[in-house]
Amino acid sequence: MLPYGKQSVSDADVAAVTHVMQSDWLTTGPTVACFEAAVSAAAGGHPAVSCTSGTAALHIAYNALGLGRGDEVIVTPMTFVATASAASLWGAKLVFADTEDDTGLIDPAIVDALATSKTRVIAAVDYAGHPADYDALRQTAVRMDARILDDAAHSIGSVYRGRLVGELADITTFSFFPTKTVTTAEGGAVVALEQAVAERARMFHTIGMTRDSTQFRSPHDEGWYYEVRALGLNYRLNDMACALGLSQLARLRQFKARRAELTARYNEALSAVDGLRTPTQRPDVDPAWHLYPLRVLDGRRREVYDKMRAAGIGVQVNYIPVYWHPVYEDMGYKRGMCPRAEDFYAEELSLPLFPDLTGSQVDHVIDVLIGALK
Ligand SMILES: Cc1ncc(COP(=O)(O)O)c(C=O)c1O
Repeated sequence: MLPYGKQSVSDADVAAVTHVMQSDWLTTGPTVACFEAAVSAAAGGHPAVSCTSGTAALHIAYNALGLGRGDEVIVTPMTFVATASAASLWGAKLVFADTEDDTGLIDPAIVDALATSKTRVIAAVDYAGHPADYDALRQTAVRMDARILDDAAHSIGSVYRGRLVGELADITTFSFFPTKTVTTAEGGAVVALEQAVAERARMFHTIGMTRDSTQFRSPHDEGWYYEVRALGLNYRLNDMACALGLSQLARLRQFKARRAELTARYNEALSAVDGLRTPTQRPDVDPAWHLYPLRVLDGRRREVYDKMRAAGIGVQVNYIPVYWHPVYEDMGYKRGMCPRAEDFYAEELSLPLFPDLTGSQVDHVIDVLIGALK
């Protein structure tokens, strides 16, 4: 089956991991710091903390923003559930904001209408790699004294109005799962605009421990001494994963360019085909496309999905609206709340998109798709 997404692992990646495996450090050694510096550089230069997954990054990020019981988080339903569930784990109340009809991104006008004095975080997702409208979201955040979280699991390397993802929100989270643009196998990272927020993230991801004597409550100079200053978890990423990530990040520009080429090839072949709607790109963004989110109209998505899968093409659907999941249904969220996101879900079909996909494989996907529509 041709997958919808897949890692691209080079000999240099393998050599980088092997080198670490033969070194003294498998866990938190020097490569973690190098990888964090590279993530920071790829995300606008703000402090970065690596962690074990994009889900962990979200859990860390909401904590770093001070989210707690009773706070409200305005969140897009058009995402993987972790964007929302990581906030629920802190006791926050989710308020789902509907999406824009064309991009599937959180709609800033709806966010503005839903914001209250309890809104603590506005959580956007750069769906498919296309950044949300952060300048518009910022106006609401400033008005309500709320923070913005960018779930950038899809969008490392994307640019909005000349600014890199990582500079757009108070805190940005990345996933390095194998289907994503850059991989560490499992892995993630948090990038924060403010040093204090980054430090809170770092503390939580390492069990709340510090060995920094300047942070000790009482002076201690024993070599073994450390303090636990806050509750936390072990969300540390290891040196082997970071070696892979570091080597992958060196190809970020190349990955982004290849994904853009493949997207353009799909657009060219499909934009005039009846019964399809190709992805929208706003003029002020330069996305690192993670998905190719095609829309199949006239209620035919299921039929096209089944036919393409039967032909060996691993198309995917991204995403089931978050509040449709039983965990949120049980909390009282009702279907119909965000009609545009639900319509988007009903039509969406992600075509294969990954750097090693060849031009002839794309052409085959297009042929099978057009055949399925006949
Ligand atoms: C938008 C979004 N957020 C969060 C995640 C969670 O990332 P991970 O799988 O690394 O935990 C994903 C990954 O599937 C995602 O697509």
